[in-house]
Amino acid sequence: MKSFFEGWRKYLIEDDGTEKIDVDVLANKASEKNMISGREAQQSGVNIIDFEPQPAREIAQALADKLGAQLGEELGRGAMGIVYAIRMEEGEGADMILKVTQFPHEKKGYTLTRWKKRELKKNPELASILPEVGDIVDIIYDFKEGWFRGRSIKIYGIPVERLEPLPLRIKEQLFGHGGKFKNPEAEKDWLSAITNPKLLIPVLRETFSDDHTIDVDNQMHSTRGEREYAYFEGRMDSGIEFEKEVLELEPPRSFQDYLTRWLPQISRRAVRRAQPVTSYSSMNAPPDRLIQRQSVSLAKQLEDRIKIPQYPPEALKYFGVEGAYPKEDAPPQVRNFFNKLMELEKYGARFWDTHRDNVMMRPLTNEIVVSDVGLFKPVEEN
Ligand SMILES: Nc1ncnc2c1ncn2[C@@H]1O[C@H](COP(=O)(O)OP(=O)(O)O)[C@@H](O)[C@H]1O
Ligand SMILES: [Mg+2]
Repeated sequence: MKSFFEGWRKYLIEDDGTEKIDVDVLANKASEKNMISGREAQQSGVNIIDFEPQPAREIAQALADKLGAQLGEELGRGAMGIVYAIRMEEGEGADMILKVTQFPHEKKGYTLTRWKKRELKKNPELASILPEVGDIVDIIYDFKEGWFRGRSIKIYGIPVERLEPLPLRIKEQLFGHGGKFKNPEAEKDWLSAITNPKLLIPVLRETFSDDHTIDVDNQMHSTRGEREYAYFEGRMDSGIEFEKEVLELEPPRSFQDYLTRWLPQISRRAVRRAQPVTSYSSMNAPPDRLIQRQSVSLAKQLEDRIKIPQYPPEALKYFGVEGAYPKEDAPPQVRNFFNKLMELEKYGARFWDTHRDNVMMRPLTNEIVVSDVGLFKPVEEN
């Protein structure tokens, strides 16, 4: 019993850190007690990205002062931070931006990028997709009003090289339509990529595949590995006829035409080939319904294969994001950029959240760069 108690005493003393208590330590203890984490603040509805321009600017100014930089105009806000133009006083033409954020994971993502960018000096091709990141500074912000009055939060200032928006043509080439196309050439290229038989046929086969099939009596059976066209009457033979029909369709003339004519035509042609049933059961949906359901995912499956994904293949195990990654028949610009994102893995960095507003262009060289690396992660060693 005694030794048990001794054990706990020891633990308590160690946890306390130091025996010698001085005023400074007390002061730190006091402010730490009043500190809340950026995530905690966010969970209570406080994110500095909602601050009015003036109070936000005061924070940015304090961070810029720490860096010895001149603060310029506000350039943009995302979900994690506010971005300002800054000019570094030393170094000629050091035109940068300052990302102001309360999230420690952002500091991690940009710090990782800073290291990797240095490690990749000998591989400039690959390094080009990473932004140049400067020394990250932080300040303690004290809430003067509202719910968190009397409490404090740490805010980070992340200096990053200044980039430019992607030209629409390239943006839509990399990320597709985002609802509709704005660049006619990108739209044309996209339509021709999506109707390329080398891309289309494998996607049709995958979309209309299943491990099970339904027979005429509406009973379920395993397809025993022959998954393609599982619910078609005549299976693969019928599937090949169907593929011919699809290739003979008039190609879509526009994105609108793709959505409203071409896709529904494919879907109808697939449903028509469904295995008929003579009896229905409440347990199993009939084949035509199942094919109808499968065809709903066709657009996404096709489109995902020719765009830059927002998450890496590993994301699947985190939250089951559907994975369809650019194939050889994707446009070269998409393939090149995607290959580089994947190659980062070999150097210990995993891309994350690479959506259309997180990718920009390096002026002068016109290289494509991930501008927001706040969610990039180290690859766990194992
Ligand atoms: N390096 C940069 N150069 C110029 N503008 C930038 C840069 N980084 C971000 N921005 C602008 O700020 C916006 C928000 O930045 P981002 O890093 O995506 O923040 P969040 O993490 O909140 O999404 C971007 O959409 C872009 O307009
Ligand atoms: Mg962003």
